[in-house]
Amino acid sequence: PFEAKVDSIIKLMTLEEKLGQLNLPSSGDITTGQAQSSNIAKKIEEGKVGGLFNIKTVEKIRAVQQIAVEKSRLGIPLIFGMDVIHGYKTTFPIPLGLSTSWDMPMIEKTARVAAQEASADGINWTFSPMVDVSRDPRWGRISEGNGEDAYLGSQIAKAMVKGYQQDNLSDNNTLMSCVKHFALYGASEAGRDYNTVDMSKIRMYNEYLPPYKAAIDQGVGSVMASFNEIDGIPATGNKWLLTDLLRTDWKFNGFVVSDYTGVSEMIDHGMGDLQQVSALALSAGTDMDMVSEGFLNTLKKSVEEHKISIAEIDLAVKRILTAKYQLGLFDDPYKYCNEERAKTEIFTKENKDFARKVSAESMVLLKNENETLPLKKSGTIALIGPLANTAVNMAGTWSVATDQEKSITVLDGLKSVIGDKANINYAKGSNVDYDLTLEQRGTMFGKDIPRDNKTDKQLLDEALAIANKSDVIVATLGEAAEYSGESSSRTNLDIPQSQKDLLNALLKTGKPVVLVLFTGRPLVLVEEDKNVPAILNVWFPGSEAGLAIADVLFGDINPSAKLTTTFPRHVGQIPLFYNHKNTGRPLGNTDGKFEKFRSNYLDVRNEPLYPFGYGLSYTTFKYSPIKLSKNNLNSTDTITVSVDVSNTGNYDGKEVVQLYIRDLIGTVTRPVKELKGFQKIFIKKGETVTVDFKISIEDLKFYNYDLDYIAEDGDFEIFVGTDSNTTRKAVITLTQ
Ligand code: IFM
Repeated sequence: PFEAKVDSIIKLMTLEEKLGQLNLPSSGDITTGQAQSSNIAKKIEEGKVGGLFNIKTVEKIRAVQQIAVEKSRLGIPLIFGMDVIHGYKTTFPIPLGLSTSWDMPMIEKTARVAAQEASADGINWTFSPMVDVSRDPRWGRISEGNGEDAYLGSQIAKAMVKGYQQDNLSDNNTLMSCVKHFALYGASEAGRDYNTVDMSKIRMYNEYLPPYKAAIDQGVGSVMASFNEIDGIPATGNKWLLTDLLRTDWKFNGFVVSDYTGVSEMIDHGMGDLQQVSALALSAGTDMDMVSEGFLNTLKKSVEEHKISIAEIDLAVKRILTAKYQLGLFDDPYKYCNEERAKTEIFTKENKDFARKVSAESMVLLKNENETLPLKKSGTIALIGPLANTAVNMAGTWSVATDQEKSITVLDGLKSVIGDKANINYAKGSNVDYDLTLEQRGTMFGKDIPRDNKTDKQLLDEALAIANKSDVIVATLGEAAEYSGESSSRTNLDIPQSQKDLLNALLKTGKPVVLVLFTGRPLVLVEEDKNVPAILNVWFPGSEAGLAIADVLFGDINPSAKLTTTFPRHVGQIPLFYNHKNTGRPLGNTDGKFEKFRSNYLDVRNEPLYPFGYGLSYTTFKYSPIKLSKNNLNSTDTITVSVDVSNTGNYDGKEVVQLYIRDLIGTVTRPVKELKGFQKIFIKKGETVTVDFKISIEDLKFYNYDLDYIAEDGDFEIFVGTDSNTTRKAVITLTQ
């Protein structure tokens, strides 16, 4: 609908102004209050900037927009982007944590709230959702995605885009969404950030691409190219990826932005100098250049040398101007700059109450021996650990708008929920201790937890003193926030040693211990699983952390989250994921015993510690055998798969009922199991609910050797259960 208007503007533009629209600098000095005199301000005035990111607040954004609209020759408004990833000021759990809720309406609402708050603060574009499938917990950015499964990841991608954009991008409380990182960034070799990716097309199409496609099908306005290479060509300069697949096959018609210096990084990839890589990126389908300024400074020369055409530049400009029209910026460049909204719509009580609920719904109960949890609301509780009394760290990675010091600590949360019904004594017990040198820690972006002035022995003695006087110990341990996220890959996935020592000392007191675990990734918890009676994985729960943790610990909320990533027994098992292939020498059930000439390890059993889909509740659920409405399926009908799920424990609770399918024989090898459906249901104690899933041929389709999306006749195993490993089974037959 905006085509004629966009074309008429393009006709007025000089080549320099066109290149300006393709330029996305980080706000830099402009955020430090130098708006009028800064270097970027000058560029904006000259029409050399299309948008800015890393800038927030109505005051600053209005000032910058004014320069673009009032001082540049054509007055084209800027688009303002930000990494609004898991909430804005009201901060929800890190995305990996949020994904474990398996609650799509709730996830959609988190994006809605984030959009409401960010747009009230002047922002109109978010670099979210991040939908990179990852099976490698060494990779720090696994914390930013939705786990290892493409089907679940696709549902979440749709929910997030819908939450941000709704059906009308021009509403002043929506954000344009940017799905990232296209593509395959989560498969970087050895889990080292920014590393090479090399993958067969068949794996790409079946196991990694679906969540990006789901976001496109949901109408996402923009796409961010990833840092990694694909088939030997960096994504930012990969024409197959950004044009043939994205635009021709998937019909995407928004705009593509590079990642931060993604264009100039192609120099280090070995693709040429800045002029060459900039031309390569544009021709491949990258429309906007984040930070490199390669488009701004070299594309004119490439036009003059006939290396790229004006038509290619016009196309990119057209896509960016169209986005600005869709956002309504040409009608009112200040439509997201409403001081009144900024005062009343951000970090409201309503949003914080919602975040508290979301955080509690995203905590995974990994172990609960002898019903150690929920805690009694009486007696004396020893709250111990370096993460127990810190507000910084509760929100986790990419919480760019969070007022860190306003997050609720575990100590404050417990005290607030329990009042004076129980005594809570706190001691730090140990440092977080990253096993990094001070110099390495100095380069991390966030605030570190400083080492305590007390010696390790003093810290431990204080902790043991209160532990010995308590009825129960809540050990609040794990990773600090900056230990996962971008550029935070690890090879050791244990809880840091100083905290393990603390935990072991606490266990020796003989008091019951509950481990409240903070982490941005699956950790190796073999010893903890063996020795600690109860483990609650809270990820990084967000701004309301302490209250939500208290709600779950005291049983006001019964945990219902389920893992979306496999937890390995040993780092050497990685990549370890539930939907693997069978191989020609599968191990079979040896109860962990090694078998020569089968696919297994000498020193560690094959199975994970906690499988995909796993998570306990304070109650128990029992599954009936599967009932099928019929056994044979054709290309037009459906089969109903039913199970009765009974709440057999002492609490009302929610259960995520999971449906998996195995295609027994194929023209290409098929995974041993694939998630194809799930339902999160509430069941009162003592009650039984019948859960129905409908299966059609669509659920049996996959990309074959020729990359055709088809289903093949034959038998399929159907599994329904409480996690990917604990299921009931039936068989159906497809005849087309
Ligand atoms: O959106 C991010 C991306 O995920 C990593 N590089 C920087 C971008 C903008 O901040």
